Amino acid sequence: MPLTHTQSPYSEAMLARIEQSEARVIKAIFPSITNHHNTLFGGEALAWMDETAFIAATRFCRKPLVTVSSDRIDFNKAIPAGTLAEIIAKVIHVGNTSLKVEVNIFVEDMYQDLREHAIRGVFTFVAVDDDRKPTQVWPPHT
Ligand SMILES: CC(C)(COP(=O)(O)OP(=O)(O)OC[C@H]1O[C@@H](n2cnc3c(N)ncnc32)[C@H](O)[C@@H]1OP(=O)(O)O)[C@@H](O)C(=O)NCCC(=O)NCCS
Repeated sequence: MPLTHTQSPYSEAMLARIEQSEARVIKAIFPSITNHHNTLFGGEALAWMDETAFIAATRFCRKPLVTVSSDRIDFNKAIPAGTLAEIIAKVIHVGNTSLKVEVNIFVEDMYQDLREHAIRGVFTFVAVDDDRKPTQVWPPHT
């Protein structure tokens, strides 16, 4: 999905910040997190996605954030026990007080160079002030 933004004027600094704030987490799929199909439990994947998206959004603005919504989550491929899963989160939309973060999970075989896309979703976060009221995400707190 292409980056969109509602900030004006268009900012190179913002684009650089988006690149820097990308978050990557890698997990081993052990039996404790699989379901009765011997694949990753979907709820576990959702928690990882929300957390990794939160990390990217926090790196972007360095302000307190809350999750306000998630868009459709597509589970395109099951993630079997005994594989690796890489979660990659990147800011794709900068609003006034909100940020949208796209999260993709890739499944990777442990014993051969095989990597496939498995899950995609988008999470929206809102920056909040001390009174838990929405506050601007840009410029970032430094
Ligand atoms: C997030 C929260 C502070 C927003 O308060 P609000 O009064 O609805 O805020 P506003 O209507 O002023 O909207 C603020 C921003 O959020 C966006 N937003 C609000 N609801 C949204 C939704 N359901 N989906 C996507 N974006 C949403 C608005 O578009 C706006 O974005 P912008 O400033 O970039 O244009 C409030 O809804 C809240 O506290 N929710 C609970 C959050 C929570 O507990 N999360 C789980 C644990 S982290």
